[in-house]
Amino acid sequence: MDGSKERTFFHIFHAAPELLSSAPGRINLIGEHTDYNNGYVLPAAIHLRTYLLAAARPDNRVRVWAHDFNEEETFDVEAIVPSEKRCWANYVKGIFWVLKQEGLRLGGINAMIWGEVPLESGLSSSAALEVSVIKGLCALLEIDLLPLKMAKLAQRAENDFVGVKCGLMDQFISVFGRKDSALFLDCETLDYAYYPLNLKKAGLGILVHDTKVRRKLASSEYNRRREEASQALEVLKNKGARSYKDATTELLESAKGIMGPIPYRRARHVITEDDRVRIAVRALEKDDFAGLGVLLFQSHESLRDDYEVSCPELDLLYEVGREFPGCLGARLVGAGFGGSGIALIEKRAGKEFQKRLLAEAEKRGFPRPEFHEVAIGQGAEASKIKESGGS
Ligand code: GLA
Repeated sequence: MDGSKERTFFHIFHAAPELLSSAPGRINLIGEHTDYNNGYVLPAAIHLRTYLLAAARPDNRVRVWAHDFNEEETFDVEAIVPSEKRCWANYVKGIFWVLKQEGLRLGGINAMIWGEVPLESGLSSSAALEVSVIKGLCALLEIDLLPLKMAKLAQRAENDFVGVKCGLMDQFISVFGRKDSALFLDCETLDYAYYPLNLKKAGLGILVHDTKVRRKLASSEYNRRREEASQALEVLKNKGARSYKDATTELLESAKGIMGPIPYRRARHVITEDDRVRIAVRALEKDDFAGLGVLLFQSHESLRDDYEVSCPELDLLYEVGREFPGCLGARLVGAGFGGSGIALIEKRAGKEFQKRLLAEAEKRGFPRPEFHEVAIGQGAEASKIKESGGS
């Protein structure tokens, strides 16, 4: 970071920042809509991050300057209520709120936030913001929290304060991400393991295709999918399955008649997606990227047809990817209903691929997509800022 953000902080608060923290957005290689179904996921942190500069205050006020919006929100740590006008502020307030719920005594702070993760793009800018705030607050106010607890509290802030019933994947990877590695997480036991992503050696890269489609109803549709998948699981439990992870497609077929077509399709996605994650991990162990790519395509088909969270703009990436020789796999990423997809692509074919996607999007009258060649980055970090004499 050059000194310009610190100078802006000084200009706004007339005091120097004491701490810088940051947390990454993520892609998810595979394992979509499986986290809240206690299944498997395989995400990776990306180089795009959200940042927080902060300094403690002697009172209970919190002043937060959102640099990207030129907006400020102020609140008292003893009276935290959601903001109607400024959505971004609720992710910050949610973290204070959840820490208070844990019985922690919090003082006020001055803070400035800004970010590189495109908003509402399926790359989890919300988890990046929550985690950068919790990581920064803990370092600034000397609160000792284990990384897992941090991730869980950030998720709770989003579930109970912001009101989106997300699973744990995004907050977990934003805390635990490791450079050039994917992270396999069992969302039931929370056991996890890192798998090196040797993409460079294989001449490959991950391209994010942001459709620029933003669906306002995405969070209610998301909560609805969650409901439907859990209804289906109740039926499977009556047939002897303990959870989705030990349900098989055979068991599902045997329950088809009593389940209803929608829960059946939701369950089929979850069961087959968990299988695909397990196979993907084995492919990664062998650097079998062709094998991984096939699984990506299959995951998209299942998300499109069974979980029904795709849209024409996301399907475009899949369709072009399927027939483009240098594209090994492609699928929507995150919750869906718009946002982004990822493609596993030969580096030398990347520009040509983008051209094809742009041309197709234009032909079909879709918004002009944006592309990000993402590097796999590190999880959340915080560091005290040394006094430099100047501002
Ligand atoms: C969003 C949620 C995650 C996960 C994905 C879908 O990103 O925040 O918890 O459910 O959607 O896999």
